[in-house]
Amino acid sequence: MKIVAIQSSAGKEGLTSRLAQAVLRGAAAAGAETELIHLNHHHIKVCKACARGWGQCRKGQDCIQKGEDDFYAIHERLAAADGIVFATPVYFWDLSESAKVFLDRLRRIEWPRKENAPLRGKAFIGIAAAGGSGTGAPMAISNLERYVSYLQLQPLAQLPVSRQNRDLQMAAAEQAGRFMAEQIQAGLPTWKEAW
Ligand SMILES: Cc1cc2nc3c(=O)[nH]c(=O)nc-3n(C[C@H](O)[C@H](O)[C@H](O)COP(=O)(O)O)c2cc1C
Repeated sequence: MKIVAIQSSAGKEGLTSRLAQAVLRGAAAAGAETELIHLNHHHIKVCKACARGWGQCRKGQDCIQKGEDDFYAIHERLAAADGIVFATPVYFWDLSESAKVFLDRLRRIEWPRKENAPLRGKAFIGIAAAGGSGTGAPMAISNLERYVSYLQLQPLAQLPVSRQNRDLQMAAAEQAGRFMAEQIQAGLPTWKEAW
């Protein structure tokens, strides 16, 4: 069983990354193989919205930018995983810029493939870390959930983290990782059963 986490802060050891690491620690304690991807240290191009917005991805074909950046390498790692974790810092009550660019591309190639979508039905944990004033984490989680829905993932836990509750949520993140690994081992419901 493999669980892959993506974190979208530039800092490799900041709050966002440490929350992702906490999830993976919990998952590893329950027997999972784990991997952490620092998204901002990869080259991901922005969606060009080619063909007036209805590019070939809409027909389930690959993005016209395939091979030009690291997007497909990361997509492959997610497709090979049993569980996916996405942790973003909260910027302006929203996901980070890199998170949006990556998730926009991911939604484009996953959603049109419907029941053949590579990520469909995989277990998911989302984290939004508001390390400044502590405001906007629920809004960012809500925005993340919209992507998760189009990606047909099964959200097991979604954690809005603020400066004020970070110790509580750090423990929750580790527990969520353990829970995810246990749920995968027990056998997740199929996407159809879950929805
Ligand atoms: C452009 C920008 C916007 C931010 N907006 C918010 C915000 O709306 N609410 C908040 O609590 N913190 C905000 N912050 C603080 C980040 O959420 C905080 O830096 C982040 O949680 C720390 O993550 P890191 O240590 O992983 O980099 C903002 C930071 C930046 C750089």
